Amino acid sequence: MNQINQKMSNEILPTLNTHQAQLKNEIAKRRTFAIISHPDAGKTTLTEKLLLYSGMIRTAGMVRGRKSGKFAVSDWMGMEQERGISITASAMQFEYQNIIINVLDTPGHQDFSEDTYRTLTAADSAVMVIDAAKGVEAQTRKLFEVCHLRKIPVLTFINKMDLPSRDPLDLLSEVEQVLQIQSSPLNWPIGSGQQFKGVVDLISEQCMVFEKSVAGGAKPALIQNFSLQDEKLKKLLSFQELNQLQQEMRLLKEAGNPFRQDLFLRGEITPVFFGSALTNFGLEPFFDAFIHLAPPPGIRLARTLDGQEIQVHPVNNSFSAYVFKLQTNMNPHHCDSMAFLRICSGRFEKDLIVKHIRLNRQMRLSQPSSLIARERNSLLEAFPGDIIGVMNSGLFQIGDTVLTDAVFEFPPLPQFQPEVFAVVRPIEISKRKSFDKGLELLILEGTVQLLKRLDDLEIYVAAVGSLQFDVLKFRLKHEFGVEIDIQLLPFKCSAWLIGDPNSFQKPSQSLVVKDFKNRLIVLFSNPWEKDYAQSKNPHHQLLDMII
Ligand code: G4P
Repeated sequence: MNQINQKMSNEILPTLNTHQAQLKNEIAKRRTFAIISHPDAGKTTLTEKLLLYSGMIRTAGMVRGRKSGKFAVSDWMGMEQERGISITASAMQFEYQNIIINVLDTPGHQDFSEDTYRTLTAADSAVMVIDAAKGVEAQTRKLFEVCHLRKIPVLTFINKMDLPSRDPLDLLSEVEQVLQIQSSPLNWPIGSGQQFKGVVDLISEQCMVFEKSVAGGAKPALIQNFSLQDEKLKKLLSFQELNQLQQEMRLLKEAGNPFRQDLFLRGEITPVFFGSALTNFGLEPFFDAFIHLAPPPGIRLARTLDGQEIQVHPVNNSFSAYVFKLQTNMNPHHCDSMAFLRICSGRFEKDLIVKHIRLNRQMRLSQPSSLIARERNSLLEAFPGDIIGVMNSGLFQIGDTVLTDAVFEFPPLPQFQPEVFAVVRPIEISKRKSFDKGLELLILEGTVQLLKRLDDLEIYVAAVGSLQFDVLKFRLKHEFGVEIDIQLLPFKCSAWLIGDPNSFQKPSQSLVVKDFKNRLIVLFSNPWEKDYAQSKNPHHQLLDMII
């Protein structure tokens, strides 16, 4: 009997090990990240150049632009094209130097939605793009805070060095002061503006000097490498420029923060790179460093159904994933609804039968696809770190966990304080039914939030950014045939109220309502009123974010 067992395990074990080894290998090859930036810092251009350098596209210049009227591959919604902005967070997968890159596209326009925040939960790292002339701007700061909260590693790319820029040392100290993170430059610009010639790798002390491509950035830039001591540098720079570069290098050696991978992985230090996404200067060194520094998918925390925290290991645990985004009508030719899942552990195969934890039922994940913007590629297998889109016949909600063997749930996705509020009605009363149906769907997708007065007599819609109302209007019209009237309410911020509502001293202009889970939320006419309410009610908590 023992011999039979021995023989069986000899036969089975190698197969198991081969599977595990393949899984390990696939995971090690993956980098799943999001780009965070303020509008116009260059996120779309950088994403496009990543596609260029990976060979996914042969020529750059498809970046959607207000002038050119062309669109980036990641802008797929009709409205995004109309307005020249990227509204929904989509995902793209491609290979760069044998590494499989999953880029989560976080919208970069002025207003942003909860989608953006939720997308960041699916990322293992983030690239923060900063405009070299503007420094750390408002939206970058908001998005960075979410990364910081999740302790995800952030790499910084200081862009537009080909234009007149602020002093690089100044930019570093702004990153440190405003974002409260240490910065560690891994390369340093050689000149700036028209004189931006290249970068010095601060570890190898190699200069990388770029040649402007005739095609204006449509093709990768040619690089010349030489050491910092090489006479060639003297020919490239004026005496003054060379002097300044040498001084900065000395200063960085003496006073700069040395890079530490462990601090980076804990989100305590950010490696900084300089370049110009438009002219392709500094991109190759940045992309190459990115694939070495950014972590592959790792352990994720979850809870068993009796509330115990557990670690989900990407290799050791069988398949598990969670829904971070829902989207309907992505393809106008087929009326469809997709749920986007981030795989956290195990291997996914087409038609996999999984357990839907919230509904406590088995289901088949049908029509899985990976996304290259609007073009969907049907998928036979996928691994931790990958984002898959599956058909949603109404069974999925944001935050749902699906898995094969064990029973646990990934933490619910946080909700963020809405900042715009409105009463919304169909213009034609006969469209009420379609209006209700559409609104319900868009609330489920997280496009807008639903709030109710405490006496239940009126409902309000709320959003993190007012652009979400435009999306609501556009989608109700195009997908449900309903024109709506939106009356904005005079509130500018809000907070969930924790504590006894009866003893809460409410500022006179504010309003207490409830959200769709019947949690109390206070709407304030301005941020000052909110601070005042907190100071008046020290025994109550006013939360910007809730889980
Ligand atoms: P975003 O996604 O972060 O909003 O920014 P996007 O890449 O769309 O870039 C915003 C503008 O900045 C674009 O110009 C783009 O060409 C330009 N840009 C991006 N990176 C660089 C850079 O490194 N150097 C310079 N000089 N410009 C850069 P636009 O005129 O608004 O649009 P377009 O017609 O050029 O597309």
